[in-house]
Amino acid sequence: MHSPRVMPEREPVMDVRVLESAAAAVPLLLGELRNTIARTRMPLVGFATGNTFAAFLRALAVELDTGGLPAAFVATHLDEYQGFPPERRSGMAHELCTACPPLGAMLRAGAFVPVPHVEESKVLAAHDARLRAMGGVQLQFLGIGRNGHLAFNEPGTPFDSGFHGTDLATTTRDDARTRFAPGEPPLRAVTSGLGTILGARRIVLCAFGEAKAAAVRAMRHGPVTEACPASVLRRHPSVLVLLDRPAAG
Ligand code: GLP
Repeated sequence: MHSPRVMPEREPVMDVRVLESAAAAVPLLLGELRNTIARTRMPLVGFATGNTFAAFLRALAVELDTGGLPAAFVATHLDEYQGFPPERRSGMAHELCTACPPLGAMLRAGAFVPVPHVEESKVLAAHDARLRAMGGVQLQFLGIGRNGHLAFNEPGTPFDSGFHGTDLATTTRDDARTRFAPGEPPLRAVTSGLGTILGARRIVLCAFGEAKAAAVRAMRHGPVTEACPASVLRRHPSVLVLLDRPAAG
């Protein structure tokens, strides 16, 4: 388990910004990455998958290719479908490397640490130890599921969880249907835990579109409860939330 950067007495105030458009998040996300790189010699950065981050990943590819941003970081990510090694289409690591080819080059050079695609506890413990040995994640990008999940921490996941294998919720599998068509979405995945996520030094969550509004509302204003995994972010001292107007409700 990670030691979460949790402040139990009083909730820290979440920094929430409502943007004119999802596209307006891109320079802010690049800025966050730039700040992290400037502050740490070889920071570990946790990327997130999903449509939410597609524009950012494309922009990041341009920045890395043109030297606008130095590749002076180690990359990792949040979660992986069971049985999907990085070279397998529809997997999370594959998605990141396709959307941002420089991440593929980093993978081949050992500077992108992919989440294991097998659920063996020894493998997951070794992955966790490897991230810790690098000082832990300095900057974690996050999306949010319609059901309030973070990574694949579905409702009911304990707040102190580490890397673990999990069943995917029905809404999560439904949202992944186009990704796996004409096949069926996998039933299980490996995910970083909520404790792992809270262990990151800085967290930047993005949510765009009306479909995310209910989850965003529960995260910001509902009870801090395992029924809404994202609500745990209210216990982290350094969270930036970027929303477009529909997601802000
Ligand atoms: C998956 C991922 C999450 C991500 C979510 C939202 O479930 N495991 O980490 O936040 O998708 O995806 P999208 O950005 O496509 O809405």
